[in-house]
Amino acid sequence: MLINRPFTSLPAYAQLQEHYDLMKDRHMRDLFTEDPSRFKTFTRQFDEILLDFSKNRITSQTLDLLLQLADQAGLPDAISRMFSGDKINRTEDRAVLHIALRNRSNTPIVVDGEDVMPGINGVLNRMKTFTERVRSGEWKGYTGETITDIVNIGIGGSDLGPVMVTEALKPYADDKKLRVHFVSNVDGVHIYETLQRVKPENTLFLIASKTFTTQETMTNAQSARQWFLDNGGSESDIAKHFAALSTNQLAVEKFGIDPANMFGFWDWVGGRYSLWSAIGLSIALYIGFDNFEELLAGGHAMDEHFRDTPTEQNLPVLLALVGIWYNNFFGAQTEAILPYDQYMHRFAAYFQQGDMESNGKSVDRDGKPVSWQTGPIIWGEPGTNGQHAFYQLIHQGTKLIPCDFLAPAISQRPIGEHHTILMANFFAQTEALMNGKTADEVADELRKSGKEVDEVTFLTPFKEFSGNRPTNSILFKKLTPRTLGSLIAMYEHKIFTQGIIWDIFSFDQWGVELGKQLASRILPELKDDAPVQSHDASTNGLINAFKALRKD
Ligand code: F6P
Repeated sequence: MLINRPFTSLPAYAQLQEHYDLMKDRHMRDLFTEDPSRFKTFTRQFDEILLDFSKNRITSQTLDLLLQLADQAGLPDAISRMFSGDKINRTEDRAVLHIALRNRSNTPIVVDGEDVMPGINGVLNRMKTFTERVRSGEWKGYTGETITDIVNIGIGGSDLGPVMVTEALKPYADDKKLRVHFVSNVDGVHIYETLQRVKPENTLFLIASKTFTTQETMTNAQSARQWFLDNGGSESDIAKHFAALSTNQLAVEKFGIDPANMFGFWDWVGGRYSLWSAIGLSIALYIGFDNFEELLAGGHAMDEHFRDTPTEQNLPVLLALVGIWYNNFFGAQTEAILPYDQYMHRFAAYFQQGDMESNGKSVDRDGKPVSWQTGPIIWGEPGTNGQHAFYQLIHQGTKLIPCDFLAPAISQRPIGEHHTILMANFFAQTEALMNGKTADEVADELRKSGKEVDEVTFLTPFKEFSGNRPTNSILFKKLTPRTLGSLIAMYEHKIFTQGIIWDIFSFDQWGVELGKQLASRILPELKDDAPVQSHDASTNGLINAFKALRKD
């Protein structure tokens, strides 16, 4: 059992509140002037990843107090419970073992008296054989042709991870030989557009669903099956063109997928933490199994770092604590994830689910309403596009938005000066956000440009930047499978750490159930034109307006 201690009852919480009063008006510019070794004090290195968290509104005392907070919340105990297979997902009575999926050391991890590693290795071996057969061309479609297109049908955790990783690791794939497509939305547009780009004889569908009951995925899977049958394939050809990634063997068989083409996983793999499991098959097919194993190895290396490194040196813990500082003391509502790498363009979207589905909770682990803020709103887009869209608000708006800037030192596509220009922007943005520009500096500039005194007075407040806007910089050598694995695991453990400190359960997601239930109730009501009266006035009104509008 996890230790339950209300966040605000932790002794360090009260101390941090007092400390916040001292810190809230301090400017980072002054902190840097006072301490020339600030970069050294507030950077940490793990493998080829450097975390610079010096551009935050913290001092060594802030960090000390935050570290005490983690300790008082029982973080070390929680970490060892997760790694040893304790059922820390209490509301679903499950262990939380995505770390086992990438446990390259193979040390036994026991759940309900059974070591889970042989089962994991068994599925990995089957994935390897399957991947090699498809990639080598040995696996043939129903006309005897090779597979050129993989279509992964899944949603949420059965989609976002594979999408994000296959995009991020595109340089390790060969699109001329094998392409990958993703269908998630139940909007028929998504499957329609995807099927326009593929041919049944060369396509392999992966039906990715932990439960194999998700309405969107099952609807898309049935449409894909029908399309296959309508376009040349037969029932007996399905085995060559459909595979399932799931925990639900009965439902997979009922759908008509050959059990030999089913790649299983376990209830202790959370959907949003499942890219390391059979759900990652599209990744393995796209980048090759060796690269998939490198991804796992990178995740595992970060797991060992998280489990074994003292908190003050621990990257995920430090990121979590800095996040808590802004979320719970400065009242920041959101956090931006800003990768300066176009290949990482789905990274923020991936962690939108990772973070918000995990820590979007409002009762503590005793089931009592929390009186403190929990998970932040996560959002972001790659730099430099974001700079020309929403950075204005980050620089000069009224909201405090802590940002993570991520970038590789070496581009996967070194063309001319592109990467140097990209990185100049990366450094410039974090510098500008921290330093800002004072009214004196602005006025001086305006005077030098020949502006009259009145104009200088008028323009100065618009051009002044307050600065003091926090950023973490995460620099890494190159976006390799291993580094990406470590980066993902780093954020996963950040989320875990925050959930422990906020005294919430991070591995259930009851909040998505109500909408699903109501959709099932409404669906039959939409099948005819009879007006409905069974809902509130707004929902009745909307459904009836929809029924009227859809008539020709
Ligand atoms: O959105 C809720 C959710 O349960 C996610 O947690 C999960 O990743 C997604 O639905 C898909 O579920 P499944 O893999 O069972 O189809």
